[in-house]
Parts: sequence; C-alpha cells; structure tokens
Amino acid sequence: MPAVVLVGAQWGDEGKGKATDLLGSRIDGVVKFNGGNNAGHTIVIGAGEQRQKYALHLLPSGILTPGCVPIIGNGVVVDLGVLFEEIDGLQARGVDTSSLKVSGSAHVIAPYNRTLDQVTERFLGKSKIGTTGRGIGPTYADKMSRIGIRVQDLFDRDVLHAKVTGALNLKNQTLVKIYNRKAFDVKAVVDDLASYADRLRPMVTDTALLLEQMLDRGETVVLEAGQATLLDVDHGTYPFVTSSSATAGGACTGSGIPPTRISRVIAVVKAYTTRVGEGPFPTELLDASGEYLRDNGAEFGTTTGRPRRCGWFDAVIGRYATRVNGVTDFVLTKLDVLTGLEEVPVCVAYDVDGTRRDELPTNQAEFARATPIYETFPGWTQDISAARTVEELPKNCRDYVDALETMIKAPISAIGVGPGRDETIAVRDLLD
Ligand code: GDP
Ligand code: IMO
Ligand code: MG
Repeated sequence: MPAVVLVGAQWGDEGKGKATDLLGSRIDGVVKFNGGNNAGHTIVIGAGEQRQKYALHLLPSGILTPGCVPIIGNGVVVDLGVLFEEIDGLQARGVDTSSLKVSGSAHVIAPYNRTLDQVTERFLGKSKIGTTGRGIGPTYADKMSRIGIRVQDLFDRDVLHAKVTGALNLKNQTLVKIYNRKAFDVKAVVDDLASYADRLRPMVTDTALLLEQMLDRGETVVLEAGQATLLDVDHGTYPFVTSSSATAGGACTGSGIPPTRISRVIAVVKAYTTRVGEGPFPTELLDASGEYLRDNGAEFGTTTGRPRRCGWFDAVIGRYATRVNGVTDFVLTKLDVLTGLEEVPVCVAYDVDGTRRDELPTNQAEFARATPIYETFPGWTQDISAARTVEELPKNCRDYVDALETMIKAPISAIGVGPGRDETIAVRDLLD
C-alpha cells in the first residue's frame, strides 16, 4: 500500500489522533507534515481499568503503535523543549520512542518567536487571531522570509550564531521599538537552542529519503496533518487560520513524498462542528444546544484548554473538504455525542445577502455574512457506543449518517461512537 494522507475536514480537533491510531499495527510509518505544538491530539487506549489517555502535541500519533516509525517531516516547526518534554513524558509511561526520526530541514521555534506570537496578538486587540501562542506564525514567517533556524543549523555553532544574529538584528528592533519589550541576547538564544543538539543528533535524518525507501519496500506510510482544511493558510478562512498547509497538498511539500505515490486521502470529520480561536463560523450555537455539544463532546482544547466553539454539522464545509483534499474516505467521529437530541439540524447551504450558496464562498467578507440554511433530521435516544456495525445503529442515526455521506460527496468508511480505540464502526477497509 503506498502513502495515505490523513487530514482534518473542518477547523481541527476532529479526532485525527484517534483515526491515525486506529490504523494501528498495519502502518509502518507516520509522518507529521505541518504545524507544531499548536496541535493537540488525544488518544484513548484500552478499556475499563486499563483505559489510558495520551495527549500528543508535536509527536506523530503513530508513536503509540509498536513497530511504527514516527517521523517529524520537514514541513513541521519544532519547539525543542516541548519535543523532549513529550518524549520524556511518554518514556516515563513505558512508550518506546527510540525510533523517532526528525527532518534536518524542519524549522525550529526560537524563543523570540514565541514572544512575538504573544505580543502581536495582544497588539492586534479585537482583530486578534486567537492563536495558541506557541510561536507558530512567526516561525513560518521566518521560513518564508528566509531567516529561519532549521534543525540542521543546531549542529554547527558558527552557523547557528550567524543565523540567530541575522534574525535578531531585525526582531530585536521590533520587540524593543514597537512592542516595548526587552531585546533577546544572541548568545543566550544560541546556548538555549544548542543545548538540545546532542540529544537531537541521533534522530536527525533525511526523512524524505527514508520515506521513499519505506515506500519502495512496499511499506504503508500515513502522512498525518495537524490542524485542518479551514485552518489551511491558502484554503482556509484567512486570516483566521494557522500559518501552514494543512490540506492534502501540504502533505507532499511537508514530507518530501511526491503526489504520484499517494493512493488515498482520508479526512476526519466530526458529526457536528467546532472551532477554537477567532473567525467566522456560520453554524455556531451560542445557546443551550451549543452548551450541550460542548459538555457532551468534552469540547475543551487539548493544547490550551480553551472551550471550543460548537455548532451543527456544516455540509458545505464537508463538500469543500472533499474537493480541496480529493477525499477518498471520511472517518466520521463523535456521532455518539448527538445521542439524546430530539432533532439534529444540518447546514445544507448558506444564505449570503439573500442568495442561496451551495459552495463555500472564498470571499471572506461573504463567508462572514453567510447564514446557514438547515435541514432537520429526527434524533435518536439509544446509546450507540457499543455498536460495531452500521446495522446496530438506530434507524434515525443511520439515516443521519447516510444523509451526511450524500451531502459531502465521499464515502464514510469508519464511524466513531466513543473516544476509545475500539469504539469504532469499520464500514470499509481504509488501507486495502
Ligand atoms: P485531533 O486534534 O483531530 O487529533 O482531535 P482532538 O484529540 O483534539 O479532539 C478530539 C477529541 O474527541 C479527543 O478527546 C478524542 O478522544 C475524542 N474522540 C475522538 N473520536 C471520538 C468519538 O467517536 N466519540 C467521542 N465521544 N469522542 C471521540
Ligand atoms: P489540531 O491538530 C484547533 C487554531 C488556533 C487559532 C489559529 C491560529 O489539534 O486539530 P496558531 O497557534 O496555529 O497560529 O493559531 O488556529 N488552531 C487550532 N484549532 N485545532 C488545532 O490543532 C489547532 N491549531 C491551531 O486556535 O485560531
Ligand atoms: Mg486537537
């Protein structure tokens, strides 16, 4: 089986971590291709007393699967402190992290970029993006401005010193003169970054070459996205996006795997919609229904703990995700969260200034004015968490799933009915 891409279809937190983990022992490698520790994936393994919860930020979800090579690709931005904290945390719980590989071309989140992320947000005031404050945006901006620090730079102190000096020449001016902050000391930053070099060195490799060799041997590799389609810097709800390419196209640039090797694109989609941070959200519920979804779905951020904004399923977004990612399969998650609702509305199109729109408006001013046109489905009350086949779902629930599948124009190949690894209905093999 060649390379399989796994992306989020909405605004993140769809359950990508669980979906990757679900593919489990049949995958030989997982490469994370974009984002950094702005991501937060919760994975629940085991049942009853044995139930264990893992929160991953920077490490690919495959790290929890024995025998699977976890890879941090060139498209990722790496906070080295977080990387080792996460590795240490997993090792303390008995997880073997020794096969982790890191691309030498991945960019490093320098301490001044964390500060810049936070102060620019404060400066933006009401126009803020609501970032995670982890330095993601400024680090990608440095990459594009060609003043970034890469993993490979950590192993030559002269190179590192020259690069940090170059970056700080500009950034210290901004920090001091615009934001009234203290300047960063070049030597202190170099010492901080270089302090990770020895521990990092054995993990650093040409990950694109490694991936090609794995694929040549017929191994299965998952290209795992952080964030999601509507947070993609090109295809998302700009400027309320993250600063990387979170759609399927980004999987190639962020990993070094060519498009011709990708055979399948799996998109994870929640049975309703959530969003963290600022920006338009047509189906957002600011009433008791929103509270219901947040409470029932435990919709609080894995990374920042912020309450997630909640709303009904938006089929316009689902169709858009199918189109821009070339989705071959959907994994529908959190269907169980809707249990107990009398009726379940689904947004089938938008009204923008009195005109019906079936496709997502790319003009953001229009998107911000879009109001949902709903179709309402009857709910179900039976607990579905023990269902392992579609036939075991109540009829209203099955009808809801069938309707979504028709509206989003790609097959739903797996359905999540609970957070656990086994709380899933496999409709179709995702890796055949
Ligand atoms: P990610 O960022 O896309 O990996 O998603 P997160 O981990 O941030 O958020 C998804 C949350 O939903 C996690 O807490 C998962 O444990 C949980 N989850 C995933 N699938 C299901 C499901 O089918 N049902 C329920 N109830 N929870 C789920
Ligand atoms: P996972 O991988 C949900 C959002 C932030 C903010 C915007 C920009 O867990 O789905 P950034 O710090 O990236 O510059 O913030 O993007 N955001 C996420 N929202 N899930 C995520 O990741 C996110 N990563 C970033 O809330 O609105
Ligand atoms: Mg998340």
